[in-house]
Amino acid sequence: MTVTEVPAKSIASQDPEVAACLDAEFKRQTNTLEMIASENIVSDAVLQAAGSVMTNKYAEGYPGKRYYHGCEQYDVVENLAIDRAKKLFGAEFANVQPHSGTTANQEVFLATVKAGDAVVSLSLAHGGHLSHGHAVNMAGKLYAIHQYGVSRDTERIDFDEVAKLVREHKPKMIITGGSAYPRLIDFDRFRELADEAGAVFLVDMAHFAGLVAGQAIPSPVPVADIVTTTTHKTLRGPRGGLILAKEPFGKSIQKSVFPGMQGGPLMHLVAAKAVAFGEALRPSFKDYAKRVIRNAQLLGEVLAGEGLRLVTGGTDTHLVLVDLTAFGTTGKAASDALEDAGITVNMNMIPFDTRKPTECSGIRIGSPALTSRGMGEDEFRRIGRWIAEVARNTEDKALIARVRSEVGEMASSFPLRAEEN
Ligand SMILES: Cc1ncc(COP(=O)(O)O)c(C=O)c1O
Repeated sequence: MTVTEVPAKSIASQDPEVAACLDAEFKRQTNTLEMIASENIVSDAVLQAAGSVMTNKYAEGYPGKRYYHGCEQYDVVENLAIDRAKKLFGAEFANVQPHSGTTANQEVFLATVKAGDAVVSLSLAHGGHLSHGHAVNMAGKLYAIHQYGVSRDTERIDFDEVAKLVREHKPKMIITGGSAYPRLIDFDRFRELADEAGAVFLVDMAHFAGLVAGQAIPSPVPVADIVTTTTHKTLRGPRGGLILAKEPFGKSIQKSVFPGMQGGPLMHLVAAKAVAFGEALRPSFKDYAKRVIRNAQLLGEVLAGEGLRLVTGGTDTHLVLVDLTAFGTTGKAASDALEDAGITVNMNMIPFDTRKPTECSGIRIGSPALTSRGMGEDEFRRIGRWIAEVARNTEDKALIARVRSEVGEMASSFPLRAEEN
């Protein structure tokens, strides 16, 4: 039996309870509009590798240096993933084993700085990520984190504040990148400040890695010392992490991933990463990355036309951060109503938000998943109008039911897989 002959439905007879969950989730994803900016829909090939027999095996170590026998194919597949990642991003070094984006960041901390060292990073409240040193995260507890934000007027990274923090605290590492920052980041300015302080410069491109891979936006890889990413967002691979670096950092990163932070790698996901990187190397992925940005921009234009304010006034990437204040509603009320209407987004703080994190003034909306399903200009315009309609009328059950049925009709006419490429 080969991988393609494994019966896809066998779980239905083996475990009807779990099978029912999987079926229901398949239907939910098929019949609704997935607009969480950090999510995507993978190709059948990625899905197949992620659900393959490679889940059965321990492969602690690295290609050619495993602590277990029987790893011949694991070496081949991990080398494929490494070579493709390096080629895709023009990187000198790649480690494809990180279990997640958070783990990848922790592994970089472990490889480059010591407990108590000063680190400068973007705050969560202004679009950063927990793993860059929020007080509740391990990084926030172990390192002396100093966080910059965006400026009040432009809502873009406040480089005066970054420079001030760097000069005051002389950090060992400077981090940029985030989860809810819709604009391009000026990597060169960070590089200059990192050089001035003698700091390691880390870019976490988790959100926009696919746009970099598709050459739709500038790459941080030539500028930064180390670049981390998740593989499951715009990059359209399986859930997981990836670390890229300049060669001199390679050795310490290898050690910090294994044995420093992890045990056996999730080799079914390493195989799926290899597949995803292969897809991203194809010319059609460039077109995908461009369409992701175009669709997010179109959506932003429609929402702005409906009277909503976009944080920073728009987007250069795959996401828009929408301030709902003009509609007199909250991120929580709007995202709940949108879920009922079959449109999945998340509530999000906007910079200098006056509401509690459990309420929020904004929602974050992304285009990667629907672009993967093949949706384009017409669909994104319709979706923008639905979002505005629901956000304006979060208590109107009849309107929400009508939108839900229209959404279901449109969503189910697109396949639940990344377009063949
Ligand atoms: C910028 C950034 N870094 C890291 C992560 C963490 O990734 P994971 O959820 O795989 O740990 C995220 C997740 O949203 C992210 O947005």
